Amino acid sequence: MNGYRIALIPGDGIGVEVMQSAREVLGAVARTFDLRFDFTEFPWSCQHYVDTGRMMPEDGIGQLRSFDAILLGAVGYPTVPDHVSLWGLLIPIRREFQQYACVRPVKLLPGVQSPLALPKGTDIDYLVVRENNEGEYSTVGGRSYAGTPHEVVTQVSLFTRRGTERIIRYAFELARARGKQRVTSATKSNGIIHSMPFWDEVFADVAAGYPDIESEQMHVDALAAKFVLTPQCFGVVVGSNLFGDILTDLSAATVGSIGIGASANLNPEREFPSCFEPVHGSAPDIVGQGIANPLGQVWSAALMLEHLGEPEAARAVEDAMQRTLEAGIKTGDLGGSANTAEVTAALVRELSSVAR
Ligand code: NAD
Ligand code: IPM
Ligand code: MN
Repeated sequence: MNGYRIALIPGDGIGVEVMQSAREVLGAVARTFDLRFDFTEFPWSCQHYVDTGRMMPEDGIGQLRSFDAILLGAVGYPTVPDHVSLWGLLIPIRREFQQYACVRPVKLLPGVQSPLALPKGTDIDYLVVRENNEGEYSTVGGRSYAGTPHEVVTQVSLFTRRGTERIIRYAFELARARGKQRVTSATKSNGIIHSMPFWDEVFADVAAGYPDIESEQMHVDALAAKFVLTPQCFGVVVGSNLFGDILTDLSAATVGSIGIGASANLNPEREFPSCFEPVHGSAPDIVGQGIANPLGQVWSAALMLEHLGEPEAARAVEDAMQRTLEAGIKTGDLGGSANTAEVTAALVRELSSVAR
């Protein structure tokens, strides 16, 4: 029996609600596939900050280091400023564990109606690879002459050759491994004069090493339009930290809802644990109603299973999602009338009936 030690950080808002679903789904996976998950739950959240003055203890990163993977719900709540909560928990996890490759699958699942007016049968199935450690998310910069009419604020985007090269190379390797024919680079070298021409240069250098894979670059504004107009044309899309962030709320919406988007924050070298979380946040506007879509969190758990070396279990979770959606059991954001618990129960039923 294979066993895994998983750190669970439900976090804030609906993070707690969808984490409960993922736990139940993983419980069903464990029974069906004869696996063992040892869960350790960490209460790190905005409430923890209010109680203790910190999002996680000083040695929080050290406490997570020995786990096989981290499953996270959502971090951030109006009680604590976002830059404090996120830079106190989620962003340090991504950075300290060198989770520089953020992979977000975009797939129109059977049973889901895309809000786009696409020809019937249009297949949307691509991956967004987001640089996850540097770029626009940088601590370099500051504020001068605060509160005066001369106030100046700078926010430096920081791109290193190592960081840029490795994420672009990761995108090409992933394209090759997944049989995708094309890598599209999200750029903005017409407006951003230092970092983006550099990004383009590195992209061209790396692409030259993959003659079997088509490569193209697109300004991120035009790319956003193509996500809506011709999403079937993409294979792997690679972008900087901020571009990847914005594009993936958009892409999740094109395949039904931001509530379905899943995310893997990977340390490809496996020197440190990787972290799996939905694309969405804590959704304070719907918290406590029991209506959050659990599929983004559940799909993220499937990505975790794949990373742990349990591809059969991962496929089973994705199949269970598909069958549940095809049966019309879905939450309101996807046009259904089921609640979180009903979707979860359907997933567990599907997984329990998998013949092995
Ligand atoms: P959000 O994703 O929480 O919500 C945006 C909209 O989508 C809301 O209307 C919400 O109700 C809806 N929504 C989101 N997830 C849903 C789900 N599973 N089912 C149904 N509807 C869903 O984004 P926001 O409002 O910008 O952020 C709220 C908080 O979450 C902020 O503090 C933000 O910083 C944080 N956040 C955290 C993460 C993370 O931890 N990974 C990601 C994004 C935002
Ligand atoms: C995401 C989120 C985070 C990000 C925020 C909460 C810092 O939006 O994971 O997409 O921007 O990376
Ligand atoms: Mn985001």
